[in-house]
Amino acid sequence: HIKVKKICCIGAGYVGGPTCTIIAAKNPDIIVTIVDINQARIDAWNSDNLPISEPGLDEVVKSCRGRNLFFSTDVDKAIHDADLIFVSVNTPTKTKGMGAGYAADLGYVESATRRIAQIARSDKIVVEKSTVPCRTAQNMRYILEANSKAGIRFDILSNPEFLAEGTAVSDLMNPDRVLIGSLKTESGRAAAASLADVYASWVARDQIITMNLWSSELSKLAANALLAQRISSINALSAICEATGADIEEVSYACGLDTRIGPKFLKASVGFGGSCFQKDILNLVYLSESLHLPEVAAYWKQVVDMNEYQKRRFSNRVISSFFNTIYGKKIAILGFAFKKDTSDTRESPAITLVNHFRTEGAQIAIYDPKVQESQIWIDLTEPGVMDDLTEVQKQVSIAKDAYAACDDADAVIICTEWDEFRDTVLDYKLIYDHMKKPAFVFDGRLILNKTRLEDMGFQVGTIGRATSGFTVPKDWE
Ligand code: NAD
Ligand code: UDX
Repeated sequence: HIKVKKICCIGAGYVGGPTCTIIAAKNPDIIVTIVDINQARIDAWNSDNLPISEPGLDEVVKSCRGRNLFFSTDVDKAIHDADLIFVSVNTPTKTKGMGAGYAADLGYVESATRRIAQIARSDKIVVEKSTVPCRTAQNMRYILEANSKAGIRFDILSNPEFLAEGTAVSDLMNPDRVLIGSLKTESGRAAAASLADVYASWVARDQIITMNLWSSELSKLAANALLAQRISSINALSAICEATGADIEEVSYACGLDTRIGPKFLKASVGFGGSCFQKDILNLVYLSESLHLPEVAAYWKQVVDMNEYQKRRFSNRVISSFFNTIYGKKIAILGFAFKKDTSDTRESPAITLVNHFRTEGAQIAIYDPKVQESQIWIDLTEPGVMDDLTEVQKQVSIAKDAYAACDDADAVIICTEWDEFRDTVLDYKLIYDHMKKPAFVFDGRLILNKTRLEDMGFQVGTIGRATSGFTVPKDWE
């Protein structure tokens, strides 16, 4: 098998950027060029203000940028020079046509693949890094073979990425496993061995697993579906807790101690967000439907439906605490990112909550430590679907810090679990003193000490716990 000397990564996003930066850092003898058609994004990667915010990323980028790591918009040159090409472009849910709302839009994967076919003048290993439906590699192969120069060979690998945002650098440095799918032909195996060598610079050989292409593609969708399913399961139980006086953290702890279940990913929340879970499950639902497996499709669809229900249930709980009307009330939203330690807001539950509160006529003040103001406005104004900016700004404002957001508010809502919102960091007594009374706090992320806040005078509504003042009916005890 060949020794990889030059790598091109098409797509400088949340996955391509960090993944290929770590590859460059761990392989100083390989030249890594990350390319994108988005000039602003590439400019940002070449500046001191990286386009994505991940703990530890700035240091690694600085250590190898200009040495063996390059960011460029010259897609063709990078393709031409590379012997291994990662395709790490976006694969959003289709919004139009067949499969709209479920299927993955593979338009970006296709255009990147066509470009590779057109430009390549030497053999290439093409690696699917994007999350794609099962058997996409076959379509890429058709495109490459139908459009390339005679005598050029392409080997296609699947190498899905398992990093989570907010912990991208540590996930990449210490992955649970690296998965490489290839055809079981001699050249397929050789290509997989070449890619395995790249990872072996820092990942133990027994953590680099190889398998057939289709298993590898499906494993990525399966892993995300299983993770999201755990969250929807615990969130479904949180509804039972709120109605009975059971405590979801105790239930989660008790279940997680069973080594067959394990403690991770059992944290109840206002709902999962992020660019992957919903998209990938809907993709799996579509795949199941198209394979004539409607029961399988319905099973996985329920994970997404439960998540929608959880967001709606949480905001309804806020509204019902105010005797079913929040018209003109001020609601402070703490956190707009879909999880802590990232500025990413894709599918953030905060967006759903703000939209819901807006339709009820509330005034909303948002504070997030990392999300840019312009991003919040983009998320709250979708042309043709939502109101325009002037309308939105009649009800929504963005605060410079948590205290300003909560000033004179009727309710404070924790949407993202940023450490700075914990009651050991933020001065909730000060917040309480400047709020309207009764003062409510709704903890959608289980980061606050309920008793402590109740002692300050707050009415507290926590996911998976009864609201302050809840009493178990006498005959139950
Ligand atoms: P992203 O939108 O942040 O980045 C994709 C980039 O590809 C964009 O900058 C876009 O301009 C660029 N691009 C699109 N078409 C191109 C083309 N033809 N040539 C050059 N550049 C092109 O997306 P992302 O979050 O990095 O996700 C990429 C893929 O990885 C998706 O399939 C996603 O499902 C998967 N994934 C994402 C995560 C995550 O945490 N975000 C984790 C695992 C897997
Ligand atoms: C996910 C997968 O974890 C990762 O392996 C894959 O590569 C991409 O998709 P990401 O979406 O970045 O990663 O973050 P993740 O930590 O999985 O969180 C997703 C959402 O679930 C967040 O909104 C998070 O707050 C929520 N979550 C997570 C919970 O509500 N409870 C939990 O116990 C865990």
